[in-house]
Amino acid sequence: MTAVQSQQAAVAGPEGVMPSGSKAATDGVPRISLRGIRKSFGSIEALRGVDLDVYSGECVGLIGDNAAGKSTLTKIISGTYVPDAGTMLVDGEEVKFSNPADARARNIEMVFQDLSLCDHIDVMGNLFLGREVSHWSFLDQRTMRERAREMLDDLDIRIPRLNAKVQQLSGGQRQAIAIARAASFHPRILIMDEPTSALAVAEVEAVLRLINELKTRGVAVILITHRLQDLFDVCDRVAVMYEGTKVAERGIGNTSLEDLVKLIVGKGEDI
Ligand SMILES: Nc1ncnc2c1ncn2[C@@H]1O[C@H](COP(=O)(O)OP(=O)(O)OP(=O)(O)O)[C@@H](O)[C@H]1O
Ligand SMILES: [Mg+2]
Repeated sequence: MTAVQSQQAAVAGPEGVMPSGSKAATDGVPRISLRGIRKSFGSIEALRGVDLDVYSGECVGLIGDNAAGKSTLTKIISGTYVPDAGTMLVDGEEVKFSNPADARARNIEMVFQDLSLCDHIDVMGNLFLGREVSHWSFLDQRTMRERAREMLDDLDIRIPRLNAKVQQLSGGQRQAIAIARAASFHPRILIMDEPTSALAVAEVEAVLRLINELKTRGVAVILITHRLQDLFDVCDRVAVMYEGTKVAERGIGNTSLEDLVKLIVGKGEDI
């Protein structure tokens, strides 16, 4: 099995079935299911009992005004924060994460807005950071270079020079590398917090293409964005947060920009 094939097998899930197209299998067990999630920071109630389900092969947009609780919710899913109350199920099994490593062990990856890349090291180094391939205790540069190329080609990411320092790359290229790195951990759930906010038009399109590609491989994607127009290119559903509560959920075909804007500002609460 090549690295690419093993990555595809891993993202296909334990059933080994690759979903066809990007249609979500919403009738099965959710990849991730949250119920009654609460989180306070001192006197601030960041989350006041949030329910959310995300299925294999679908992208759920998570939107809401500043401080609505979007990042806090996804940081709970990715193990960065421990909730004060509520339950979290992965593939129907209850999980309790104490740290990001626990979430990663369940194939949950998060691409943070600041990307967590190291500017002063090159593309290949960033792709393999913390899990360098060594051979008799020497870093196996050739294997790493081949695998890095496979990781990027696999997602159709064009970065000409693997030895370019990340700080020399465009915002879109940096975002693509962060996503390729996350994808290489065989995520079954991938969370992206504002992946397109700082990008040029063509770069946004490339990132949205990547999201659609990961969906076709069965990855459950959660996308936080303030760019509401992006939702209509990649999302199957949209969940709207308002002051720590999920106030609405919409199938993407049953909503519009105007509808979402109203919900974000707290007009039109319906659940
Ligand atoms: N580590 C923390 N310590 C204290 N308060 C926090 C912490 N993280 C988040 N909060 C607070 O929790 C609330 C929700 O914040 P959160 O970052 O989840 O919002 P958000 O919806 O992601 O907003 P934005 O769109 O601005 O990124 C805010 O009032 C924020 O100040
Ligand atoms: Mg945030």
